[in-house]
Amino acid sequence: MYLKDVISIHDLSTEEMVAILDQAETIKKERPQHLLQGKMMASCFFEPSTRTRLSFETAMKRLGGEVVGFSEKESTSTQKGESLHDSMRVIGEYADVIVMRHPLEGAARLAAEATPTPVMNAGDGANQHPTQTLLDLFTIREAHGRLQGLNIVLAGDLKMGRTVHSLALALARFNCRLFFVSTDSLEMPEEICDLLRSLGTPFSFHRSLSDVIEQADVLYMTRFQRERHDSAQATCERVTADLVRQGKENLIVLHPLPRVDEIAEEVDALPQAKYFQQAENGLFVRQALLSMVLL
Ligand code: NCD
Repeated sequence: MYLKDVISIHDLSTEEMVAILDQAETIKKERPQHLLQGKMMASCFFEPSTRTRLSFETAMKRLGGEVVGFSEKESTSTQKGESLHDSMRVIGEYADVIVMRHPLEGAARLAAEATPTPVMNAGDGANQHPTQTLLDLFTIREAHGRLQGLNIVLAGDLKMGRTVHSLALALARFNCRLFFVSTDSLEMPEEICDLLRSLGTPFSFHRSLSDVIEQADVLYMTRFQRERHDSAQATCERVTADLVRQGKENLIVLHPLPRVDEIAEEVDALPQAKYFQQAENGLFVRQALLSMVLL
C-alpha cells in the first residue's frame, strides 16, 4: 500500500482492507510511538469535522509524525480564487501524505490527480468516506469476531450519507446481507444498489427499524445530512432502548457520529451501544493506514 491514494473504497482490495484491520489491531495492543518520525501529514479540511480530523492528526502525532494544515478554507488561498488543483499540487510538495475533506463529490480524486503525494479522502460531499468504513469494519470485527455473512441494517439518511455508501460496498466483499431502512426520500442511491446487485449482495428496503431489528447483527444509524439537502429536516426514525432490546443478544449499535437525535441518549448505557468505542477505534485504524501508506 506504499504511497497509495485512498479515495474510494474501490481503491482497496479485500486483502488490503483486512491487512489494515490486522495492523490496527496490533497498534491498539502495542501502542507504538515512533513509527512515523520524520514524516509530515497535511490536514486539509474544507468542510467541518471533529472526529475525522482530530483522529487523523492524533494518529500522526502519536506515531511521532508531524502535522500541518487548516480546518477552515477561509484561511487558505482558495479565498483568493486558487484552484484545488494548484493548492494540492503545492501542498503535495510540503507533505508526505495529504488528508482531505471537501464538500464536493470528486474533489479528493481531483486532488490525487494533482500530486504524486498520497491522498486520503476524509469525505467528499455525499460520495465516499473510505477511512470511516475501515473503522466501522474494525469495530464490527472486534465485536463479532468476523465480518463474513453478517446481517447489517443501515438506517437514516442513506441518500446523502457518504459513510453508508462506502460501508455498503465494503460489506459486499464479506458476503453480508444488507437491510436499508429509510424514508422514501432518503433511500440508498440507485448507483450503489446497481453495484451491489452486480456483486450479488442481497439487500432489501424497509420503512421501519422494527421490521428488521430481530435479524440484525449490526444496526448502523446515521443522521439526516442537513447541509446536503435543500429542504428542511426529513423525519429519520429514532433508535430507543426498547427497540435495541428487541434485537439479538449480540446486536451492536453503531453510528459514525455526530448524533443529532436519531439515537436516544438512554441507548448509550446499553452494552449494545458501540458508537463511542467505534470513534475511539478511528485512531488505531488511521494509525495503521498512515503507517502502511508511508512506510
Ligand atoms: C460523518 C461524515 O462526516 O460523513 N462523520 C464522521 O466522519 N464521523 C457522518 C456525518 O457527518 O453524519
